[in-house]
Order: sequence, then C-alpha cells, then structure tokens
Amino acid sequence: MVHRMSGTTPWLDPHALSSAEAIAQAAGALLLEGWGQRPSARTKAAATDLVTEFDGRAEALILDRLTTTFPTHGVVGEEGGQAGPADTDFVWYVDPLDGTMNFVHGLPFFAVSMGLVVEGEPVLGVVHAPVLGWTFSAVRGGKARLNDDTLRVSNVGALPDGLFGTGFPYVAGQPNANLPEFTAFLHNTHGVRRLGSAALDLAFVAAGWFDGYWERHIKAWDLAAGAALVVAAGGRVTDLDGGTLDVRSGRIVATNGLIHEQTVNLLRAAHAAHPTP
Ligand code: IPD
Ligand code: CA
Ligand code: CA
Repeated sequence: MVHRMSGTTPWLDPHALSSAEAIAQAAGALLLEGWGQRPSARTKAAATDLVTEFDGRAEALILDRLTTTFPTHGVVGEEGGQAGPADTDFVWYVDPLDGTMNFVHGLPFFAVSMGLVVEGEPVLGVVHAPVLGWTFSAVRGGKARLNDDTLRVSNVGALPDGLFGTGFPYVAGQPNANLPEFTAFLHNTHGVRRLGSAALDLAFVAAGWFDGYWERHIKAWDLAAGAALVVAAGGRVTDLDGGTLDVRSGRIVATNGLIHEQTVNLLRAAHAAHPTP
C-alpha cells in the first residue's frame, strides 16, 4: 500500500515520466508508418469502432517496454494486452492509438495515451500525438507540459465564454447518446468540438485551449493519462455528477475548475430533460 494522499510522488522512480515519454514516442514513430497509407481496418464493438494492425503493434511495443521498465507495475491495454502482477496498486492504462478513425482517414488528431493509476487515482500521464509532434506529459506534484512548455488551464469563469470538447460513444445501437448534452452546450457556450480522440480532448483542457470536456461510455485507457494532465495543469476532473472520478466508470467531466459546477449543472439538466444511456 502506498500513501498517495501527499501531493508528491516519492514512491515513484524519478525517471518514470521521461521513461514513459520515450516509450510513447517510440510507439508514435511506429504509428507514423501507417498514417496516410489508408491502412485497412476491421470493426470491433460497433461499426465506428475500428482497429488496424498498427493498434496491435503499438500496444505490443508499449507493453514490452513498460514491463521491462516497471516490472512491479500492472499494465492493461485496449487491444487486450495485460502484463505485470495482478495484485498491484500501480496500473498503467494504455491506449496505443486513441483516435483510430482519424488515423484511418489521414487526420492528424490521434495519440498514444499512457496513464499510470495508483490506488485508483491517475498520477502520471503521457499523451503523444506523433504527426503534430506534441508530447503532453505530467506527473502529480509537478507541472503539466507540452514538449518543453508548461501548461496551465484557462481562466474562463463563465460558461457562455467556454469552448468545450466531447465525444460520441462507439457503442452499438446508441448513435444518439450525448446529443442532448451536445445541443445544450452548443446553445449555452462558445461551442463544442468533437476531435475523435478523448486523450487529446483532455490534453486540450490541460493546455487551456478547451475550457471543459465531458464524455460517457469511455474507458480507463482513454482518460487516465488525460485526467492526470488536467489535474497537474490546475484543472478539475470528476464523475459526471461532480463526484470523485472513477477511471473505470466510463464517465468523466474535466474543466479548468472555475466552471466545473456550471458544467456539471448543465450536463445534469440536459440529461434529465432527454435521458440517454
Ligand atoms: C475513441 C476516441 C473517441 C471517443 C471514443 C473512444 P479509439 O477511442 O477516444 O474520441 O469518443 O469513445 O473510444 O477507439 O479511437 O481508441
Ligand atoms: Ca481510445
Ligand atoms: Ca484505441
């Protein structure tokens, strides 16, 4: 059992962040081999839930290197990879290619996402977008960074001035889930963007480019890294109702902190008016 309540991470290897960045960048270089080639894809849970050979190859590379670098940590990857001890408080959640739909279509908005969760709390995150040359990273107790620059969430204090990100779940039979919330935010804020990469949505909140982001039906590998980034950049991450974030619940809202309550309230009102799964 580690004592995570302190704000720093003395129990973590001081090189953990740079090691994780190097691993994410190696996986990103592998993804670049396939980007722009219109790689063939097969579908998973839904017609919009794609996977290519590059997802699997990048995950294999990451799992291999994470288990070598952190032999006492567990690793869970989106494409089925599991490694390391099962009874550990330290678990890496890995999405080797977040934004596969964008990748397949040649859009540059996709990323390698690696988040270390300790006793359920995201404490370290790396989100690397190889085409853009952007490596977002943070470890709890330190600053969030984009390459060599320090990141800070925005100081927007009123919902109508906020720009938001969100995503639509790749859940079979539920193409309309999130439309009521999407409409409510379109009408009550500066607007809503749908990038197609949850990890980048969260990184954009950390960078202060988005003032908030929400999504439901997503997975720990989509959000663990980004949640660590947002907190280190001074923002707030919670469950959709404003309660403590559970990385495996599938629901998250992240903001600059200043507009968190307003965001949660609008989400609640939109959902109550038109409930979707
Ligand atoms: C998806 C992306 C998308 C989000 C979906 C995720 P994938 O991940 O993060 O933005 O809306 O819920 O599944 O399938 O591209 O790794
Ligand atoms: Ca994903
Ligand atoms: Ca993925």
